[in-house]
Amino acid sequence: MPAQIIDGKQVAADMRAELKTEVAQLREQGIIPGLGVILVGEDPASTSYVTAKEKACAEAGIYSDDNRLPADTSQADLIAKVEEMNANPKIHGILVQLPLPKHIDEDAVIGAIAPEKDVDGFTPGNVGRLVIGQECFMPCTPHGVVQLLARSGMEISGAHVVVVGRSNIVGKPIANMLLQKKPNANATVTICHTGTRDMASFTRQADILIVAAGRPNTITADMVKPGAAVIDVGVNRIPDDTKKSGFRLVGDVDFEGIKEKASLLTPVPGGVGPMTITMLMVNTVESAKRHAQ
Ligand SMILES: NC(=O)c1ccc[n+]([C@@H]2O[C@H](COP(=O)([O-])OP(=O)(O)OC[C@H]3O[C@@H](n4cnc5c(N)ncnc54)[C@H](OP(=O)(O)O)[C@@H]3O)[C@@H](O)[C@H]2O)c1
Repeated sequence: MPAQIIDGKQVAADMRAELKTEVAQLREQGIIPGLGVILVGEDPASTSYVTAKEKACAEAGIYSDDNRLPADTSQADLIAKVEEMNANPKIHGILVQLPLPKHIDEDAVIGAIAPEKDVDGFTPGNVGRLVIGQECFMPCTPHGVVQLLARSGMEISGAHVVVVGRSNIVGKPIANMLLQKKPNANATVTICHTGTRDMASFTRQADILIVAAGRPNTITADMVKPGAAVIDVGVNRIPDDTKKSGFRLVGDVDFEGIKEKASLLTPVPGGVGPMTITMLMVNTVESAKRHAQ
């Protein structure tokens, strides 16, 4: 039987509707969740991503403080902007859009974000709390993956999850989140990367296979156990003359082959992608509630 295709756009729309109701209730209590956004330079992908975040915030009733800074902004000025947002009571979450221009040390800028406003979940303190199972902000893309699995009725507890990729943004946090002895977690987790020998021998054991390698066709049907859930985090541009843009987006897995074998599968686009901004807003609202307490 072909896999059930997880409609990330629909899950994201459902969650955004729930969030809008929650924000309306908070506003009645005088709490207006606020997100501070900083974009340095004019990279087209980053600009469109930041614009989408600002639009989504406006739709949900979240205040957003948008800052577009020139590409030659100094590291000191950028950190000063972050510190200004740290001190601003109207802002509950701070997002510095990555990547930053080469003359700026990303770690220094991310490290300047107040931990209680780190809604992207990238500061070392937040990562540490995630690893030891303390309250923290879950990084947005992995958090979205967990929501897709949970809302599709997938039993995570006891499952063998194989994660392909060990980046700080996706692979490591998703592995650590699913390892916790908590609801929507408690899995046995294996992490694969370019140093893994015979990767297929691991991926074939996965009840849940999460792929974040950033390379098309990293996972083919022969590498998947029949009935597995396959979550494709990858977003890759490949040339396509039939498109006006000259390219199309594909994930990291062979979608057509795997859909005949898996039980659950996310498409690209329209799977994990729409969840990332949604989870950023979820974290911002959560932060506003914590600040109010
Ligand atoms: N949908 C979204 O919202 C969203 C958000 C974030 C990222 N993404 C996408 O997700 C993908 C991964 O992003 P990322 O930031 O995690 O990428 P990354 O920093 O480039 O990390 C890729 C990871 O995959 C591993 N890898 C690459 N090729 C492999 C292979 N053939 N076999 C096994 N492991 C392999 C790398 O191993 P080594 O460590 O050994 O190099 C690395 O750990 C990208 O396509 C990105 O665009 C999507």
